[in-house]
Amino acid sequence: MRVLSGIQPTGNLHLGNYLGAIRNWVRMQDEMAAGSECFFFLADMHSITIQEGREQRLSNVRDMTAALVACGIDPDRSVLFNQARVPAHAELCWLLCGTARIGWLNRMTQFKDKAGKNREGASVGLYVYPVLQAADVLLYQATHVPVGEDQKQHLELTRDVAIKFNTDFGVELFTLPDPIIPKQTARIMSLRDGSAKMSKSDPSDMSRINLTDDNDTIAQKVRKAKTDPEPLPSEAAGLEGRPEALNLIGIYATLTGSTPDSVCAQFAGQGFGAFKPALADLLVTQLSPIRERFIALRGDNAALDAILEKGAAKASAAAEPTLRAAYDAMGLMR
Ligand code: TRP
Repeated sequence: MRVLSGIQPTGNLHLGNYLGAIRNWVRMQDEMAAGSECFFFLADMHSITIQEGREQRLSNVRDMTAALVACGIDPDRSVLFNQARVPAHAELCWLLCGTARIGWLNRMTQFKDKAGKNREGASVGLYVYPVLQAADVLLYQATHVPVGEDQKQHLELTRDVAIKFNTDFGVELFTLPDPIIPKQTARIMSLRDGSAKMSKSDPSDMSRINLTDDNDTIAQKVRKAKTDPEPLPSEAAGLEGRPEALNLIGIYATLTGSTPDSVCAQFAGQGFGAFKPALADLLVTQLSPIRERFIALRGDNAALDAILEKGAAKASAAAEPTLRAAYDAMGLMR
């Protein structure tokens, strides 16, 4: 089994990032059988599709690296690196541009969403993004790719590219990867508005719990989180039409590894006056060790860069045979 996944480096990490991708990665790493491997990388080459200045980009990669390690990704057990340090990604992407079809890319819903109305003004990078993602996966012969539901279509494209390349060149080079999509990922919503995703770009800092928030700030944000005056129902079905309540219950369930139903059963009939302090305690207990590690790591750029450099050397070595075989299959001398 070879697990691989990428994440776009963003700054200002919050609870939504942690309970989304990062925690799943840590779980996969910790549950790996002997002989299996995990490759996790920062998709900084994909981030050229986002307008950002040089300093911000540098800082985002280090923020995300520190967060991943603070949350439990162990650079000695998993291969952790940034894509830009491994040129094989860009090289294979170009080779696969000969395989991927324009019609396939035209169907990508993420491109349509991100390009919006002004498709003519979107960057070529945004359009080709799924081909680079296919290269990321195929380069390492990944068998399992943990991703969110929104990446399912990109993984299907990856399989199509692999099949077409193998067929066109008469080789059995690329492994067909399977996506691993967690069954019940709680969508972590804003603490101020249960219908909006928790986001680093929400102007209100009270809407999110940052990985750098201290214990008092966490407790205060939970105390002030928007709720309703109703008591909690005995099962999750009773939370319909109560998005803020559902969000807080969902956070509690995710942190404890249980389900909204069992959290409701536990707090049935009680109001938020009882539930919120319990949630705040749980958040403080789980987030404070992460915060401390994060702050310590984030203060040491040299150590973070060394982690990524070491990971990139391992990744390059793992990628080399596949890259060489791809050039060779196409009759390109290297
Ligand atoms: N597109 C993915 C996302 O936005 C990130 C990503 C880039 C990725 N390359 C990948 C995920 C390869 C899995 C495998 O979440």
